Amino acid sequence: MNILAIESSCDETSAAVITEKDNRPFLLSNVISSQIDIHKAYGGVVPEVAARAHIENIIPVIEKSLSEADLKLDDITNIAVTAGPGLIGSLVVGVETAKAISASQNIPITTLNHLEGHIYANFLNDKQPEFPLVALLVSGGHSMLIHMPKHLEYQVIGSTKDDAAGEAFDKAARILGLGYPGGPAISIAADKGDQGKYSFPTIDLTPKPLRNEQGFLMKPELSLDFSFSGLKTALITQVKKIGEENLDTKIVNDLAASFQKAVIASLNQNALRAIEKFKPKTFILSGGVAANKLLRESLKEQISESFPGVYYRIPDAILCTDNAGMIGAASYYHIKKEGPQKDNFVANPNLKITSE
Ligand code: KG4
Ligand code: ZN
Repeated sequence: MNILAIESSCDETSAAVITEKDNRPFLLSNVISSQIDIHKAYGGVVPEVAARAHIENIIPVIEKSLSEADLKLDDITNIAVTAGPGLIGSLVVGVETAKAISASQNIPITTLNHLEGHIYANFLNDKQPEFPLVALLVSGGHSMLIHMPKHLEYQVIGSTKDDAAGEAFDKAARILGLGYPGGPAISIAADKGDQGKYSFPTIDLTPKPLRNEQGFLMKPELSLDFSFSGLKTALITQVKKIGEENLDTKIVNDLAASFQKAVIASLNQNALRAIEKFKPKTFILSGGVAANKLLRESLKEQISESFPGVYYRIPDAILCTDNAGMIGAASYYHIKKEGPQKDNFVANPNLKITSE
């Protein structure tokens, strides 16, 4: 099995070749062409500009992924492509390219949900995660806790009520004048700042206890949901209090560190609650925000302290942000279970990871 995987859901054009080794997916190449430099000038991803850049990049990126894997198109047995969620103009480029290669070469296609790709980035390394597992998926568009009793079965057990974690970092970076993409910029500034300087709350969406008919306080179930827009408002309020004209490097670094601490505290809080509730064998951190050093380290520390029996998995930083390798990894398990899909399909910007 040699899978050519294609990912173009947002602002990275990527193609990867995955083969099978020891009954698991093995990465032969993973070429990522980032559009960060193009979108930097606008302070964020401009969908039409992204779609155009994908059109220019996709064939060279696919050719490079084949040559790095030392394979030809004739050697490819399956094509895997992200069908959603994402930006429609970006998704269409990958999907239609995959269809064209499939039709001309008679290679079957498997379509993937981008989010399962992020989770399956963790299945590319040596030690395979064991089920049941809980995944914290934190990216620019999503913040979710997902329970997986077994391969390809997803139960969303927590999600964000407003902004995603990556979005919160991106917006905070804009407020602090740190540029795009915000996550890495905040993380770099935070490294030089004092995280205790400003106090931002750890968001907990657990409802207040209510009294039952007998007048006893009923303990509510601890919430696994997230909310980050209040933190953004708290940051704006703090900046106004300081005065925008007074923001110097030291203050910005301290604000970045304090803000990052608050976002991570709320992610860690719910991650630990999910482990307590679902008692998984493995806990997986995934998505672009999983590249964040403090999140990776603090979660590792807290899990090993509170749940020493749980195997904690994080992908290498390069596999956290968007790449086709993770799409190929997820497709490997789909192909093994279901065979290649043959149905007609279209890009779906709102594709859900669960069927409900
Ligand atoms: O998974 P991803 O590449 O794209 C989506 O599927 O959204 O995630 C991109 C997000 C952006 O919001 C970016 O700011 C954030 O991941 N990110 C980070 C870091 N690197 C990327 N956030 C915090 N710390 C980082 N080091
Ligand atoms: Zn992503």
